[in-house]
Amino acid sequence: MEHDMSDYSEVLVTEEQIATRLDEMAAQIRADYEGKDLLLVGVLKGAVMVMADLARRMPTNVQMDWMAVSSYGSGTVSSGVVRILKDLDTDLTDRHVLIVEDIIDSGVTLSWLLGNLRTRGAASVEIATLLRKPDALRVEVPVRYVGFDMPTKFLVGYGLDFAEDYRTLPFIAALKPEVYGDR
Ligand code: PRP
Repeated sequence: MEHDMSDYSEVLVTEEQIATRLDEMAAQIRADYEGKDLLLVGVLKGAVMVMADLARRMPTNVQMDWMAVSSYGSGTVSSGVVRILKDLDTDLTDRHVLIVEDIIDSGVTLSWLLGNLRTRGAASVEIATLLRKPDALRVEVPVRYVGFDMPTKFLVGYGLDFAEDYRTLPFIAALKPEVYGDR
């Protein structure tokens, strides 16, 4: 199905605001991990944009790896069931790990992922997320770096999708309720 500009009512975070915030987050991360090797763990697919933009603000000894997990069925409500669809290639023993996410919504995915990665012998496991929806949180998740706290709206763009569309938008927008209906 084709979607166009009229599907989203408002741009909530512009491309420029994302870039400025990532500059600040990256500076903080570089300072916090100075002298340490850092492994960034991206959670597919939504985190692809934020990983790419955050990682290129990092020194060259910072590595990337990827996981794919599924916490949702076909709908938009988190089921609480998390499955690993693609695991890491990297052994986490004694590694400093920073999970990179696009959004924390209910917190179910990250809470589970944090617990999972912490059983693998890492020196540290922390979380960086570009977006967080404080009002939607069902599980408390200790997040070290947060880009923006967002209203509880259906967000798309910069990696966030609706039925796999809109991920390619360079900004974060709110989808009109009539577009996603009661899914
Ligand atoms: C999104 C997002 C997080 C998760 C957050 O991924 O990237 O991984 O949902 O939601 P939660 O806090 O309620 O658990 P999604 O499952 O939509 O997959 P995607 O990244 O491939 O779009």
